[in-house]
Amino acid sequence: CGIVGYIGLNDTKEILLKGLEKLEYRGYDSAGIAVMNENGVHVFKEKGRIADLREIVDLNVMANIGIGHTRWATHGVPSRTNSHPHQSASGRFTLVHNGVIENYDLLKREYLADVTFVSETDTEVIVQMVEKFVHEGLEVLEAFRKTLGLLHGSYALALLDEQNSDTIFVAKNKSPLLVGLGSDFNVVASDAMAMLQVTNEYVELMDKEIVIVTKNDVTIQNLAGETVTRTSYIAELDASDIEKGTYPHYMLKEIDEQPAVMRKIIQAYQNDQGELTIDPDIIYAMNNSDRVYIIAAGTSYHAGLVGKQFIEKMARIPVEVHISSEFGYNMPLLSEKPLFVFISQSGETADSRAVLVNIKEKGYQALTITNVPGSTLSREADHTLLLHAGPEIAVASTKAYTAQLAVLAILAEVTAKSRNLDPGFDLIHELGLVANAMEVLCDSKEIIEHISREFLSVTRNAFFIGRGIDYYVGLEGALKLKEISYIQAEGFAGGELKHGTIALIEEGTPVIALATQESVNLSIRGNVKEVVARGANPCIISMKGLNMDEDSFVIPEVHELLTPLISVVPLQILAYYAALHRDCDVDKPRNLAKSVTVE
Ligand code: G6P
Repeated sequence: CGIVGYIGLNDTKEILLKGLEKLEYRGYDSAGIAVMNENGVHVFKEKGRIADLREIVDLNVMANIGIGHTRWATHGVPSRTNSHPHQSASGRFTLVHNGVIENYDLLKREYLADVTFVSETDTEVIVQMVEKFVHEGLEVLEAFRKTLGLLHGSYALALLDEQNSDTIFVAKNKSPLLVGLGSDFNVVASDAMAMLQVTNEYVELMDKEIVIVTKNDVTIQNLAGETVTRTSYIAELDASDIEKGTYPHYMLKEIDEQPAVMRKIIQAYQNDQGELTIDPDIIYAMNNSDRVYIIAAGTSYHAGLVGKQFIEKMARIPVEVHISSEFGYNMPLLSEKPLFVFISQSGETADSRAVLVNIKEKGYQALTITNVPGSTLSREADHTLLLHAGPEIAVASTKAYTAQLAVLAILAEVTAKSRNLDPGFDLIHELGLVANAMEVLCDSKEIIEHISREFLSVTRNAFFIGRGIDYYVGLEGALKLKEISYIQAEGFAGGELKHGTIALIEEGTPVIALATQESVNLSIRGNVKEVVARGANPCIISMKGLNMDEDSFVIPEVHELLTPLISVVPLQILAYYAALHRDCDVDKPRNLAKSVTVE
């Protein structure tokens, strides 16, 4: 979920709505705003997108203070009732919340047995508790503080009090939240991008802090009520980067940006002598560790699987790759000197952040590889490597994945050289070839669209197979396809398919096979024969030099270790067209959020 707030001299409706549009990547099940003027608080909320909310906002209501929310449902189905803002029984307090309150049921029973709840959300408990404590005689700030002290879980909160039109009460724990500064106004937002329209000056908040935001003042306090001072920073973001331009979808734009991102990464990681370089502290941390633990979710996890190959093959350090939500409570036996590498496009994924907090408590070092400077995971780790991919807006990750692979390859190469290991190739040159190859692939959309029609237009499922590094790309190809086209898709190791999953192959089932590795070229083709013998419709994507007559598509030749950077591109484009042909919402697929800020 994402939240915004504004207090100042201007009318707040449009500022809040624009802010929420920028936060839609955090969820788009339902949305709402609450604005306050001399007639009281006016709440507008609706199931669906911000565009749906816009339709019901009464333009005649003018107000200089307000809060807003876009939701990714956790407790309670997406509906108008469950959408935020939520109000206390008397209507005096109005609240938006990002996060999950784990003990909400207990609090409800213990403190609010006599209150009738309107929604099924955990959030409503918070706002009802504030009201209850105010009824019992506490000042609003004290009631807010007392409530926060009783909450277990994560929250970013903005609260309005109908009897105080000068203040937004704000609090944060685990969920991201910033306060933006202006002259004669201040804002609150889950990220800086949301309020870039009005300010680029922000103050970071730490866990368990409360902020009292007025039009001319921002006071940060800890839970004990002591004032905390903190300097602001300027968010170096370019608002034009987040426009779609002439593209019909962000996803297509972002696919096409990949060659440029590769070149930008080469530039960003090159020193004056034209050599690849990385912060020596990071290389020291790599060399000082006996095992690297990569922690990530979704597409970033898939990038981690490929990254393991890079680091182990080039730098010869053992690597384990873990899904962050699993690692959090099921930690493997750690080596003596682990180094944790978090891969996260957004730098905000709550599952990954939970692991980071946990391993920092244990005193371990962490490196975050992220696209978002200043993001939570970046701020809280010891080191950061940036992806330089520019904002990625489409929910399905494309350019961030290939950027993650490129940065992981650079990390592996620079580490290898520091250990006097020869990676056996010139990575700058090879990444240049990757960029060129990506360009060729981006220019081949028509052919790939044709393949998409042929294989994916009517099917209900599809399989992606590969061996070795191709298997990991297959996992990503399957994820791309399922998340945006809703075709049930799975990636499998070529040799493993016959141990069960082959039972799912029916007449015409598409099986997309990757063949980019010489050592397994014949064996993956053998696996294709096995599924063809059972009726599958095979689509082989091979690399030039390894291609055969039966192949559906041939990608340009790049270094064998770097093939994931380009073999994924036709899979991204296949998924894009499969979704488009099925009339799916390419950029905002159902049930998903770009950045999942709840565990
Ligand atoms: C969400 C997105 C995925 C993404 C994952 C991890 O589930 O829908 O596309 O891969 O989060 O996000 P991160 O920002 O940590 O890479």
